Amino acid sequence: SYNGLNLVPQMGWDNWNAFQCDVNESLLLNTARAMVDYGLRDLGYQYIVLDDCWSIGRNESGYLVADHTLHSMGMKFGMYSSAGIMTCARYPGSLGYEQKDADLWASWDVDYLKYDNCFNQGQSGTPQISFNRYNVMSQALNKTGRPIVYAMCNWGQDSPFDWAYGIANSGRMSGDVSDTFNRPDSRCPCTESIGCSWPGFHCSIMNILNKMAAVQSRTMSGYAQDLDMLEIGNGGQTDSEYVVHFSMWAINSSPLLIGTNVLTLSPANLAIYSNPAVIALNQDPSATAAIRKWRYLVNPDEFGEGEIALWTRSLDNGDQVIALLNAGNASMMMNATLNDIFLDLRTAGAYQAPPQLDEIWDVYDLWANRMSDAEAAAIINGTSMTVTDNTNGTVTRYNA
Ligand code: GLA
Repeated sequence: SYNGLNLVPQMGWDNWNAFQCDVNESLLLNTARAMVDYGLRDLGYQYIVLDDCWSIGRNESGYLVADHTLHSMGMKFGMYSSAGIMTCARYPGSLGYEQKDADLWASWDVDYLKYDNCFNQGQSGTPQISFNRYNVMSQALNKTGRPIVYAMCNWGQDSPFDWAYGIANSGRMSGDVSDTFNRPDSRCPCTESIGCSWPGFHCSIMNILNKMAAVQSRTMSGYAQDLDMLEIGNGGQTDSEYVVHFSMWAINSSPLLIGTNVLTLSPANLAIYSNPAVIALNQDPSATAAIRKWRYLVNPDEFGEGEIALWTRSLDNGDQVIALLNAGNASMMMNATLNDIFLDLRTAGAYQAPPQLDEIWDVYDLWANRMSDAEAAAIINGTSMTVTDNTNGTVTRYNA
């Protein structure tokens, strides 16, 4: 980590997905209280991030005006600005005011900065130009002497995955998430590169995952690739789709920022955000992303988007995490062999840890939060394994 912070991905809450500009101090404080009461703080969700639209302007000396307090609740406080002359919602940005703003936030005991990309005066287009612009704030934050997590939000523009790990703690790698699992968002659908430009590129969960598969190797301890804020609770997806959303963000070491109204969360959706095993996966010290081992298009519908995929990841203790993702529109039998699981694409076909055929692996189901059934737990002995089918939530045993 360039500044010693965020060795594992940040967790918290951000108001944007559910409230956009409709923010005030009591929303933040009530949310923080609910997060303490619901046990979310103790599960690791500690940053309360105030997104766009909070500042009323600059006074004559060029400072921003706002106030807040959260630390007494054991939460940490996140702020938002843009590496441009205005934020995306046209509030004052920090381009040209980096040190003033950083100093002011430090004086407010701010712990976290989300730093956006709107109105950047055309200072983008090559990695070097974007790096320079984001580096000014990085240096300014360092200079305050206060530990402040620096969450870059440049939507994947100019390949931040190649350069941002030296100046930031996380970096958005796509356009804005929208609360849709695999349907294009009619407002302004995401494209293969960064999506449309502001205002309003909107990526489905599957858009983001398909982009992440190509850049996963750039995730590391101290630099999380940010798949954007979570939509669980906002109503655009089924609960099983939200389980997939949370699982795939977790396995890819994305920051986990709750993006909904915590006060009205359903028990089912609170349970998704609260799954201790999936959170532990996300917070594993390895802090790497998963590798997509294979992907097949299945049952294409009118959008041509049905697919199944296998994503795997090694944890620090040598455990293997396996996500069999069914984004088709039907229940699907899926099978992953040991070869699939251990084949490491980064080393061009070599095996990470050649499995012994007589090796016995226990299988732990992170959503059932228990060992798999005795019968199924015989498990990966070279020929078979247990998978969870996200379409209907049942655990099924397959023979390879
Ligand atoms: C951009 C960011 C979002 C959000 C909005 C606020 O679109 O990517 O996450 O912060 O700006 O205006």
